[in-house]
Amino acid sequence: MDLKKLIIKDKLPRHIAIIMDGNGRWAQSRGNMRVFGHQNGVESVKQVVEASGELGIEYLTLYAFSTENWNRPRAEVDALMGLMVKTIEAQTESLHENNVRLTAIGELDDLPPAVKKQLQNAMDYTSGNTGLNLVLALSYSGRWEITSALKTIIEEIQKGNVDPGTIDTCLIETYLNTSNIPDPELLIRTSGERRISNFMLWQLAYTELYFSQVLWPDFRKKDFYEAIIDFQRRDRRFGRIKEQLGTETVKYQG
Ligand code: IPE
Ligand code: IPE
Ligand code: MG
Repeated sequence: MDLKKLIIKDKLPRHIAIIMDGNGRWAQSRGNMRVFGHQNGVESVKQVVEASGELGIEYLTLYAFSTENWNRPRAEVDALMGLMVKTIEAQTESLHENNVRLTAIGELDDLPPAVKKQLQNAMDYTSGNTGLNLVLALSYSGRWEITSALKTIIEEIQKGNVDPGTIDTCLIETYLNTSNIPDPELLIRTSGERRISNFMLWQLAYTELYFSQVLWPDFRKKDFYEAIIDFQRRDRRFGRIKEQLGTETVKYQG
């Protein structure tokens, strides 16, 4: 069956976020090194980027490397960073041709210079594009992001630029890395793990969570469509009751 046909076009999430997990297990179950799984995960990235563009999704955020991932063995971190440079370099032209605008969230200053340079180049090159916004979360964690925002807000208060009395959820949002990005309506995590692992802690307040058993390197367009179809069958109540839904546009206003 063509799953894509089951997707309701006017009920698409504006923003989908993915915790791409299971690369290591995928490789190890084949008797290979973990890095082989990361390499094979690149095809899955291509598939979800392409599918998002085709469907008209506005934002796709991919969790590519967490703050905690710096604690992995040095060889794996180096291999991941090398793969990052290679993949961004190889994909920049094709992203551009597909009208994709690449951005990134996270502590980018902690990335090796080669990654930073390649990433900056790709972001500059695609900055004028008007199709899918592809957001890479690199050296990112939710607690890091909220802590950075807090530090900046305190500095602004000390400089007299922010009146503490005006602090509300909207103001805090403007200091997050995602200040210009709507909260994700749908979060997908692959590999059967059911946790958030410090991802978008603020932004996921009312996000629908979808856990897939598929290991990331096996994740294909059909798996992505399945997640969207599942999402579209849910009631999003935002604290209200079912009978209130449909009578007005119910939106989460945090
Ligand atoms: C996800 O796959 C990729 C990154 C975290 C960079 P993992 O490397 O976590 O794979 P598993 O979870 O060990 O199988
Ligand atoms: C989360 O996956 C981070 C990314 C996918 C980049 P991990 O595999 O690092 O998460 P935990 O440590 O198992 O929770
Ligand atoms: Mg993992």
